[in-house]
Amino acid sequence: MIKVTNVHKNFKEVKAVNGIDLFIPKGEYAALLGPNGAGKTTLVEMIEGLQHPDSGEIEIMGKGWKDHAEDLHHIIGLSLQETRFIDKLTVLETLKLFASFYGLDKKRILEILELVNLNEKRKSYVVNLSGGQRQRLALGIALLNTPEILLLDEPTTGLDPTARREIWDILMALKTANKTTMILTTHYMDEAAYLCEKIVIMDKGQILAEGTLEQLLSKYKQGEVISFETNGSIRENQLPRNEKIIQSIIDPAGNKGEIIVGDLVSYLPLFLAFIKNQQLALTSLECRKMTLDDLFIAMTGRHLDQ
Ligand SMILES: Nc1ncnc2c1ncn2[C@@H]1O[C@H](COP(=O)(O)OP(=O)(O)OP(=O)(O)O)[C@@H](O)[C@H]1O
Ligand SMILES: [Mg+2]
Repeated sequence: MIKVTNVHKNFKEVKAVNGIDLFIPKGEYAALLGPNGAGKTTLVEMIEGLQHPDSGEIEIMGKGWKDHAEDLHHIIGLSLQETRFIDKLTVLETLKLFASFYGLDKKRILEILELVNLNEKRKSYVVNLSGGQRQRLALGIALLNTPEILLLDEPTTGLDPTARREIWDILMALKTANKTTMILTTHYMDEAAYLCEKIVIMDKGQILAEGTLEQLLSKYKQGEVISFETNGSIRENQLPRNEKIIQSIIDPAGNKGEIIVGDLVSYLPLFLAFIKNQQLALTSLECRKMTLDDLFIAMTGRHLDQ
């Protein structure tokens, strides 16, 4: 459904998208995951036809934006990272306005109100909606035209867990009912893991890794994480080393950090002895299986949300 081939986009000296290849088959949900400035919005906006690549090819169902813009507008539903509505319109009036662009009737508007669970709010002014309700309205607009492809830029950022869950439920229902294809961008690993079979980890305009959650995590098979805080300061190069240590990252202040190890049982005693030798005490210690965030740290030395 979506084929991106060697796409580049620069803003002056910033390489926002720096040679990306992506292939999304029909019915697949894919998540673009990455920190601020990774190039996620730039990439999806190029797929949406809102920005144009400096070089490379983007094809949607075999069609390019240059010659098939009209067709593609009918295939794609999108919501932008920040949606601005007209405050003085109600929910119903807003949907009517967008429905008129596609020549859709009242029946479809009522279906959408039901689908995104805004029936009770149909007479409310958009300005009075909560964050979650606004996001559901934005999703409703994206879905009006029964798009085959959905492109959603951070559809749940800033929402509380319940509101996020509601959006997830709507998206999961669409996948089952319509075999919709979707790319969403997110900072939330649980969102990517729950909704999407393909997870694409981006940083600095490039793809660092992609695959299912299991495939990504199996790259660092049996990786486990020691997450700790101490009452003093240590440096990364003081940590006991053995062949099982995959990656370590210590905060600049030196009093907390994470160590990713291949064999927790053999490493933990070394670590505890080291802390004791330094005449420090641990104020917090947690050992856990690697998550996507840990994977990101292992690949970049940074957290996903920084
Ligand atoms: N119109 C623009 N002019 C100049 N620089 C831009 C423009 N749009 C994006 N950039 C730069 O390109 C890089 C990628 O930005 P982009 O918005 O694609 O990142 P993102 O992954 O969507 O980040 P976020 O998670 O914060 O939304 C950033 O360094 C950004 O400052
Ligand atoms: Mg963005």
